[in-house]
Amino acid sequence: MKIAKTIDEIRMIVTEATMFDKKVGFVPTMGALHAGHISLIKKAKQQCEFVVVSIFVNPTQFGPTEDLNKYPKPFDADIAICKSNGADAVFAPSAEEMYPERNLTWVNVEKLSEPLCGKSRPTHFRGVATVCAKLFNIVQPDIAFFGQKDAQQVIIIKRMVADLNMPMRIAVCPIVREPDGLAMSSRNKYLNAAERKDAPLLYASLQEAQLLINGGECKSAFITEQMKKILNISKLAEIDYISIVNADTLEEIEEIKGKVLIALAVKMPSARLIDNIMLDVE
Ligand code: PAF
Repeated sequence: MKIAKTIDEIRMIVTEATMFDKKVGFVPTMGALHAGHISLIKKAKQQCEFVVVSIFVNPTQFGPTEDLNKYPKPFDADIAICKSNGADAVFAPSAEEMYPERNLTWVNVEKLSEPLCGKSRPTHFRGVATVCAKLFNIVQPDIAFFGQKDAQQVIIIKRMVADLNMPMRIAVCPIVREPDGLAMSSRNKYLNAAERKDAPLLYASLQEAQLLINGGECKSAFITEQMKKILNISKLAEIDYISIVNADTLEEIEEIKGKVLIALAVKMPSARLIDNIMLDVE
């Protein structure tokens, strides 16, 4: 497995692979890799002959009071994970390599960046879309692989690729969960024992929503109330949002119908956690 630290190096590595007509799969990450990332690398390996993983903690997607400086960076462990799961190359640039000057060009996917996580993280998705556009231009993959855990991010990146006619496809892989239901996330490492104990309540509240909908309930307001009751069992969890939205437009819906995304964010004292389920309801 090759490791590239510069844009020139990774471009050369990918050019060489494409000379042999290899389909290029790309897994963009911020490192601190876990089973969710591994599932993306494996899926990429199934669909593409050459798989690039990027490891870059992107400063432009962190707000001024967020965890940029303490974000975990277990580089050697990450490299070992990439290697043992079949990645062909890792692109691990420095912040100076990716942003040699103050960035003046931004990709802003309007509307879709505003609700849900966009409300409490107003510049987050601009940073995500911008770095993904840069990474896609650098790696030029055929397919990029993203996890459903970051549902809003996936919807935004898909829209960016469509709006900007990027010659590639976005593949979305299911959420990988701990045995107790907690969605895998690099930020789970921040949780102390008491927070970790309460964290599965996020998924429990989504399962309750699913049960209610399966039983014929279709009022978003009622479902949201039941989800709140479950989350409020925790004395530590502060609900940031629970949103029931149209899965394409991210607009709030009053009645459950069609492609629906139920998404939530919860602030624990040590970390902000998100989770979601997607449903297709008759
Ligand atoms: O999902 C992530 O880890 C990041 O938002 C991404 C897509 C790697 C962009 O920095």
